[in-house]
Amino acid sequence: MKKIAVMSGKGGVGKSTVAANLAFALAQNHKTGLFDVDIHGPSIPKMLGLEDVKGLAESEKGRFKPVEIRNLKVFSIGFLLPTSDTPIIWRGPVKHGFIKQGLEQVDWNADYLIIDLPPGTGDEALSVIHLAKPDGVIIVTTPQSVALEDVRKAIRFAEKTEIPVVGIVENMSGLICPHCSKVIDVFGKGGGRRLSEEMNVTFLGSIPLDPEVTESGDRGRPIVEIGGKTSEVFNKIAETVLDILERTKKVETSQ
Ligand SMILES: Nc1ncnc2c1ncn2[C@@H]1O[C@H](COP(=O)(O)OP(=O)(O)OP(=O)(O)O)[C@@H](O)[C@H]1O
Ligand SMILES: [Mg+2]
Repeated sequence: MKKIAVMSGKGGVGKSTVAANLAFALAQNHKTGLFDVDIHGPSIPKMLGLEDVKGLAESEKGRFKPVEIRNLKVFSIGFLLPTSDTPIIWRGPVKHGFIKQGLEQVDWNADYLIIDLPPGTGDEALSVIHLAKPDGVIIVTTPQSVALEDVRKAIRFAEKTEIPVVGIVENMSGLICPHCSKVIDVFGKGGGRRLSEEMNVTFLGSIPLDPEVTESGDRGRPIVEIGGKTSEVFNKIAETVLDILERTKKVETSQ
């Protein structure tokens, strides 16, 4: 199973949106899982319309069955909490244990596992790096310069922990006007691409700030399931990610 972690230096840049849409894009043709590792703020259940799921079924092997939704397997701490406003008060080692269980005790039976991380380079990111040893990380950023400073940090974190960076996704890059469909560059333009050149990592693509993305996330149906231009961008990014992972594998086997 290839594991891909989605991270960012900064909060609210669209990691979960990217993770959920990439997972759905991959699930169209591959066995795919989505592990929500955002223990303090799990947003995957809401984004996928799974807020009412409470508890997980046990599999024959005494392990857990992930929740299946349209060919995608999902696991989130949100499924184990009595209500969505229940706070989690755990220190690092307990979080580490939860992540270990999510990786080892859930019957993923998948070719690809997308891991949605909380923002930054804290306990959860470290636990995922050590326990899952991801085949790559995708770094999500927005075009503002402050976010770009943080993305440098995230790239260095991946380098220090020796996890390959699959590439950078620039999210919320230009607003698609719902009236005239013209693109307005709210946060500037091209920062993600410039940064990827500077840091020598792949630029995976720009996702526009599209009101339909917000709405579809709120309604529990990611945009990839609905279709349209922004959905195509996600599908294209998913293809590029698979290409990169495949190439990395070839390089490894030829060594
Ligand atoms: N391209 C986009 N266009 C419009 N809205 C978007 C886009 N990307 C994300 N959003 C919206 O922005 C909000 C934050 O996105 P999301 O939850 O994916 O960010 P995050 O990086 O996972 O946040 P956190 O750091 O809290 O985990 C959500 O309401 C989401 O629907
Ligand atoms: Mg998130």
